[in-house]
Amino acid sequence: MCGISGYVGPRKVCDIIVKQLKKMEYRGYDSVGLSVVNENGIKTIKTVGRVAAVEKMVENANLSGACGIGHTRWATHGEPSVRNAHPHSTSKVSIVHNGIIENSEELKKWLESRGYVLESETDSEVIAKLLDFYYDGNPVGTLRKVSLLLEGAYALGILFYDVADAVFALKKDGPLIVGICDDEKFLSSDLNAILEYTNRYFVLEEDEIAVIKQDKIEIFGADNKEIKKAESVANWQAGVSDKQGFPHFMRKEIAEQPCVISNIILKNIKDGLPNFSADGIPDDYLNRFKRVCIVACGTARYAGLAGKNWIEKFARIPVDVIIASEFRYMDPILSKDTLVIFISQSGETADTLAAARLVKAAGINAIGIINTVGSSITREVDYNIFTEAGIEVAVASTKAYMAQIAVLYLFALKLGLLAGSLTTGKVHFFCNEFIDLPEILEQLFVDKEEKIESFAMLCLKFEIVFFTGRGLDYLLVLEGALKLKEISYINAQAYAAGELKHGPISLITKDALVIALATQGYVLRKTVSNVQEIKARGGNLLLLFKSGMDISEELLSNSIKLPRVGDDVMPFLAAAVLQLLAYHVACAKKLDVDKPRNLAKSVTVE
Ligand code: G6P
Repeated sequence: MCGISGYVGPRKVCDIIVKQLKKMEYRGYDSVGLSVVNENGIKTIKTVGRVAAVEKMVENANLSGACGIGHTRWATHGEPSVRNAHPHSTSKVSIVHNGIIENSEELKKWLESRGYVLESETDSEVIAKLLDFYYDGNPVGTLRKVSLLLEGAYALGILFYDVADAVFALKKDGPLIVGICDDEKFLSSDLNAILEYTNRYFVLEEDEIAVIKQDKIEIFGADNKEIKKAESVANWQAGVSDKQGFPHFMRKEIAEQPCVISNIILKNIKDGLPNFSADGIPDDYLNRFKRVCIVACGTARYAGLAGKNWIEKFARIPVDVIIASEFRYMDPILSKDTLVIFISQSGETADTLAAARLVKAAGINAIGIINTVGSSITREVDYNIFTEAGIEVAVASTKAYMAQIAVLYLFALKLGLLAGSLTTGKVHFFCNEFIDLPEILEQLFVDKEEKIESFAMLCLKFEIVFFTGRGLDYLLVLEGALKLKEISYINAQAYAAGELKHGPISLITKDALVIALATQGYVLRKTVSNVQEIKARGGNLLLLFKSGMDISEELLSNSIKLPRVGDDVMPFLAAAVLQLLAYHVACAKKLDVDKPRNLAKSVTVE
């Protein structure tokens, strides 16, 4: 949420900052701005809208200098407007901020009592004004002094008017990466935004201050002593975040899913059995738990629900799935025989990160199922299973979800094997079904996309769409409904099929569309009855069902037949179809598929 960039070096500062911000637009796109410092002080330009808008302004702004900072905003305090846009500058400093200053109202009053006029509605502006007030020619000392006054979360990029050769950074509870080349340096909220220039980087840790110059980086810890950090090297390639011929990142990322599953097969299946040794997790770590607790937000939580279903079925271990923002304030009951699993694409979601810190402080065992290597949550857990999905750019998650459920499926099998509730033969069988998935998924795209597109046109006619199913199908439609509402702005609600009668059925009229998922053989009859009840009340139906299921003709007029695989691996096919459906609805509505309104991909505020 909010992207920060910075550059120090010989190239055109504004061009590099704009390029970085373009790669971070998914973190927010309400307003955008940048500042450059040279011997004459700081110059700032900013505007509402997207990075392209500031790019145009740069052409006429004549900003020169070797150091700059930039920001793309997801509004928290104050509407998207120029005065609320970052950077916030005074005659002495300029700052870009990601996070929330929780005591900003108090600090505002304090500043006003000293004659400052706060121009914006943001919480961030107080940081600029405080730095202005305290600046005594010692940037690091001033930053430390001000940081002690701030409560909340802040990743900051800072320029001082009389230091034309350095960008400063300070972080608490927000991601910040410093990219390293021999003769130029970068600051970024996201590794992906600097990969085009370098794969060498430092991750800033809590309360560290970085002084970033063209030829060196100095990092100071909370005690203001200099710290020598080891460089990390990213193994992601620049360029993989291009659309590669697809009209949208989301469509490209959906298409990548067979490959994502193949990566997980290669890493996590050995000799036909699930294996997490590549992630460094020993079996004797995994076989000690009597309870599992999954903590996540958004799509990652829905992945967790599928994981619960598989873990309880395969390993007979009880699982709770808890929304991270609830978990952190609910005084959770955790014991030494509980394994907590944090699921996150970004590895930076503020609530999930806070929950991970809470669990670590309580000395409870925890693992992360994380996509982003080096992200904050990865540093708070005992082990990480990386989901190998590569960079996901579209705000609506697709391939990361697929990777999460793939890991959870294999993890559940592993627990089942260790618990003795599944035989080796059975686990071999389940793994073999999983190994076939990439090919089946590829073919599914070829065979069904046209039909899915035609059903997207049907969905367009409805302002409210219900999704329903039972068992794993119910867990899948929760995600299907989320996908549709996120990117098409259609009011989409998911209900367990058996729950329709307990309320939602009162909304079923000829103006409602119900998308029913029926892939689970053991509850097929029950789901079909519920679907009949919808039809009987004049509701419109789109049925997704598994080939070979015995379903009466009258329900099949609007239907998509999915390939026949085992019930437990059907979610991998159903998820892809529901993603494509949401995608084509949003395309048909000519919406900004990759950047839906009001959403951000990496939610680094509570
Ligand atoms: C945001 C994104 C979702 C994502 C959720 C959790 O809401 O738009 O796609 O599922 O955050 O993010 P995480 O990075 O923790 O998986």
